[in-house]
Amino acid sequence: MVKVIGISGSPRKDGNTEFLVKEALDAAKQNGVETEFISLIGKRIDPCDACNSCRKTKRCHIDDDFEPIYMKMEEAEGIIIGSPVYFGSATPQVKALIDRAGYIQGRRGDKFKGKVGGPIVVARRAGQNFTFAQLLFFFFITEMIIPGASYWNIAFGREKGEARQDEEGIETVRDFGMKVASLTKKLLS
Ligand SMILES: Cc1cc2nc3c(=O)[nH]c(=O)nc-3n(C[C@H](O)[C@H](O)[C@H](O)COP(=O)(O)O)c2cc1C
Repeated sequence: MVKVIGISGSPRKDGNTEFLVKEALDAAKQNGVETEFISLIGKRIDPCDACNSCRKTKRCHIDDDFEPIYMKMEEAEGIIIGSPVYFGSATPQVKALIDRAGYIQGRRGDKFKGKVGGPIVVARRAGQNFTFAQLLFFFFITEMIIPGASYWNIAFGREKGEARQDEEGIETVRDFGMKVASLTKKLLS
């Protein structure tokens, strides 16, 4: 069975990103794929230090929690990445993950090419569009296939759980999850 993973890049437990990524995964699961939720809470993912040793070794020399998460990305057929908006952009945790994962997968032979996926973004008020675009750049440059949904995959919420009141946001991310699943099955099973 093909597998879709959903990564939440919020440092806040039981927060809005976690909720929305889980909604997308639930819809994907209902559409017949295996799913796994991965949270970056408590994980140390340092920024890329541009040493470029991965050109030769095909792995990242930084000794932190990156490698197991990267391997889950490499092994999955579908990848969803959720981030809250922090000062108009993705969280540092998400940025560090995509910088390093993007480089490593390229060095290892374009491992993400042809996978299916895309971003989910949540904020109190502003910056969703920029952050959504910021993450799309990662999905496009890694040659992944990104399905559109009934709206852009964004939602509104400030305090923990507030995104549960954003009906359109939930509907959108569920529609997105469902489409990631059906496209993944069609292309990669
Ligand atoms: C450091 C920080 C910066 C933030 N910057 C923004 C922002 O630029 N725009 C916005 O609308 N909300 C901003 N927020 C609010 C969060 O995006 C919002 O609370 C979101 O629901 C958090 O998601 P989470 O519950 O998954 O952590 C910020 C929150 C924090 C902690």
